[in-house]
Amino acid sequence: MVRPMESDSGARLERLSGMLKRRGFILPAFEIHGGSKGLYDFGPNGGRLRNRVNQLWLEHWTSMGNVTEISCPTITPYEVLEASGHVGEFSDYMTSCISCDEVSRADTLLEEFHPNPDSLSKLELQSLLEKSAPQCPACGTNKWSTIISQNLMFSTRIGAGNSGREGFLRPETAQGMFTSFPALYRHFREKLPFGAVQIGKGYRNEISPRQGMIRLREFNMAEMEYFIDPEAPLNHDYTQWSGLQMVMLSEDKGELSITIAEAVDSGIIRHGTVGLFMAKTYDFLVNVGIDKSRIRFRQHETNEMAHYATDCWDAEIHGSYGWVECVGIAHRGCYDLQSHENYTGKTLRARREFPEPKEVIIDGWTIEGSVAGPAFRSQAGQVKDAVEKLPSDTQFPCEIILDKEVVVVDSSHVKRLQRTDLITGEWFIPHVVEPAFGIDRIIWHILDHAYQEIEKQDESYTVMRLNPDVVPVDYAVFPLFEKNGMQEIAQKVSNILNSKRGVVAIYDSSGSIGRRYARADEIGIPICVTIDHQSLDDDSVTLRQRDTGEQKRVQILDL
Ligand code: ATP
Ligand code: GLY
Repeated sequence: MVRPMESDSGARLERLSGMLKRRGFILPAFEIHGGSKGLYDFGPNGGRLRNRVNQLWLEHWTSMGNVTEISCPTITPYEVLEASGHVGEFSDYMTSCISCDEVSRADTLLEEFHPNPDSLSKLELQSLLEKSAPQCPACGTNKWSTIISQNLMFSTRIGAGNSGREGFLRPETAQGMFTSFPALYRHFREKLPFGAVQIGKGYRNEISPRQGMIRLREFNMAEMEYFIDPEAPLNHDYTQWSGLQMVMLSEDKGELSITIAEAVDSGIIRHGTVGLFMAKTYDFLVNVGIDKSRIRFRQHETNEMAHYATDCWDAEIHGSYGWVECVGIAHRGCYDLQSHENYTGKTLRARREFPEPKEVIIDGWTIEGSVAGPAFRSQAGQVKDAVEKLPSDTQFPCEIILDKEVVVVDSSHVKRLQRTDLITGEWFIPHVVEPAFGIDRIIWHILDHAYQEIEKQDESYTVMRLNPDVVPVDYAVFPLFEKNGMQEIAQKVSNILNSKRGVVAIYDSSGSIGRRYARADEIGIPICVTIDHQSLDDDSVTLRQRDTGEQKRVQILDL
């Protein structure tokens, strides 16, 4: 959810957006063809920054040791998203302006008139829309059509002609991880808990994408599905966060400043693993350069939660667009695996061993093989499974529904089954806790928080104080002049730096040295290396720090 922007930040936002475009961080896509709302390019600097954020994100979660990365297709068959509930439920409420036809999300239009319009039903939104008559953002009038529900998925056809089948571009990366559960379970030697992470594109045909990188129609998601046994005791250790008071907006208790351990112990956070992932999410955001004082966690109201969730917390970040949801941490229960199991008939379960074997009394029916085998032939196995589920007081003949057929089973096909078994464990559907990150919104806030305008000799000067771990470029190498061999030395230094794994250096010789420093500061390059006259004599160079402006001389060999 995105909350309204404070009015005085508009001019800064315009300058920031202009700079990001000029310096190749973020640009409207397909601009020479007029662009398309909700589609953005990461330019040469943005592309590298995104890559580094993605890499840090992967390392952050895979370092847990029981988490692995997978990659699933973005094109998804209709059945998968029907089973997951997205065909029926993944919608927003839409209304259009009677005067100019501009479409808007009803809850977005009503943000000024309600503290959380996302939690309202269609009827409640309709009545608030009529009562408050918000202005159309395009033409300023205030007459709106009746609200309708609009599914957000992009549909497509998989395959050509009559053999093609319906599909969608995935609205979340999660479903591929659920349908991969059997492979993940095998990979982790059939032991819970474990997680799968995936970074990739998600697609949502957003009704009115008006806020730059915040609401895109194609965006970068980074999600983890963490599979747990709901009955296994949790032994998460929160001590590393014991000194951290986090801002939480709880559904019942309102705004609190509280540690993760306190919030879990008091039941404000309803599941310990959700709490653990909130703390780890906080760490990740701070590690990539988000200002810690502008992070808070907001619990979803019960009627605001997605169709699959039983508890959900958003990590919200404050920036030029106000408070914006950037990460959703949801307890999805067994919803997804159960839905796919019901839909496909395939088992998506894990096994739990009992501490002591249990005695169970079996009192029911099984098939009489010599009669039922010839009678039901290839269906005999299915009939056996169904018969063994019948209660002991079943009267025969009776009808049994198989996949696509009803068969009649009479008393000659069956015999009583009565015995006592010792069972050592059982199969169950794992529960899932999911942190879902919107990488574009996070990158927007990294840039927004790093952007600083400084008054310098009567002109405004811009520095991107990016965290060195995410900067698009680590070093800029400048020959003071392109003569007397300075150019060759600078090229050599640039080559040395670029040869180090993971290091990016650029060579820049255009304009005055002051202009080059200014360009480097706008990109956020932490260190500039200048080759000057002295370098020709003693193989030393000047290093200039972005944040302090401090300069020192070092030997090229010591770089
Ligand atoms: P909102 O309420 O803002 O529409 P959401 O609740 O639908 O967001 P989720 O479904 O929880 O979002 O998606 C997980 C994450 O993906 C969000 O926290 C957000 O960072 C990101 N995200 C969702 N929709 C978009 C979008 N249209 N453009 C960019 N990022 C998005
Ligand atoms: N996978 C979580 C979401 O898309 O909301």
